[in-house]
Amino acid sequence: MITLTDIAYVRSGVADIETAVRFATDIVGLELATPSEAGVAHLRADHRHHCLALVQGPSGVISSGFAVAGPDELAAAETELERTGFRVRRGDPAEARSRRVREFIAFDDPFGNRLELVSQQETISRPVAFTRPAGITEFGHLCLDAPDVHEAYRFWSTRFNARVSDWLGDAACLIRIDPVHHKLAVFRGERPGLCHMNFQVATIDDVFRNWHFLVEHGVEIEMGPGRHPQSTAIFLYFLGPEGFTYEYSFGVRRIEDDAAWQPRTFDPDEPGSIDMWLGPVRRVSSQLQLASPEPASPEPATSQPASTGPASTGPARLEPASTESVTTGRTA
Ligand SMILES: [Fe+2]
Repeated sequence: MITLTDIAYVRSGVADIETAVRFATDIVGLELATPSEAGVAHLRADHRHHCLALVQGPSGVISSGFAVAGPDELAAAETELERTGFRVRRGDPAEARSRRVREFIAFDDPFGNRLELVSQQETISRPVAFTRPAGITEFGHLCLDAPDVHEAYRFWSTRFNARVSDWLGDAACLIRIDPVHHKLAVFRGERPGLCHMNFQVATIDDVFRNWHFLVEHGVEIEMGPGRHPQSTAIFLYFLGPEGFTYEYSFGVRRIEDDAAWQPRTFDPDEPGSIDMWLGPVRRVSSQLQLASPEPASPEPATSQPASTGPASTGPARLEPASTESVTTGRTA
């Protein structure tokens, strides 16, 4: 059993790094770390050196990082994954430096999502110099796609300390690795990719102030403001450059009594099951997994992206994600 202690980062390839960085800072509000590496922008939201790395190159998610307790735990995870048939690659020192971790391993989940387990992610004590006052308190969770969320949960629950908090039918599995209701979610999608990256904000007022700010700036609101009944979080999903969906949310449930929690199942077609305020719901865009130049999977190496844009095969009631910009703040 591999114990994940936290989520660590998302690494995303961008064809236009200037536009992507401008959005991550001026719109999302993240701090841009002092540039230290050509073609890589590190964005900070909390104690981590960064939680989002934008990498100049083909569009697509490169990897999603999770922390383990230390080097011994990382070595044990490497052994365990290899023993159970995963092809695992150790990152070299330059790659580890780019991730601001001491060591990491990379492998693909059974659905083609590139995962990285890291040891000793760098912490920064200086307060975050947010570019704008969005109210961000931390990197909250990340959401991956898989064609079968039940199979995906089998993968996570049999190898990791991952427990389902709630099911959204066959459409989503919300997974915790600590008391937070979900730090990981898997959404149904035919192709591997990153469904969204979440940032927690301090107050409900931040959610609504951010909503107005995004609308004023012509950002496509994908869903919300609304409230998820599962986590009780008040959410706002919006679309960044190159198909990357961000989320702000406030008020996520904590499950302190782990043994007493019974996962619930919600029907995604039932009104209110995604947004208990009954706002319009839709499947948000996913950024598809980029085929890595050095795959951990047996597939031949390629630098071609899987592709970008919506990868949705969400629940039937959810309309396909649109790539059109809207300024009304509400999309059907
Ligand atoms: Fe989310």
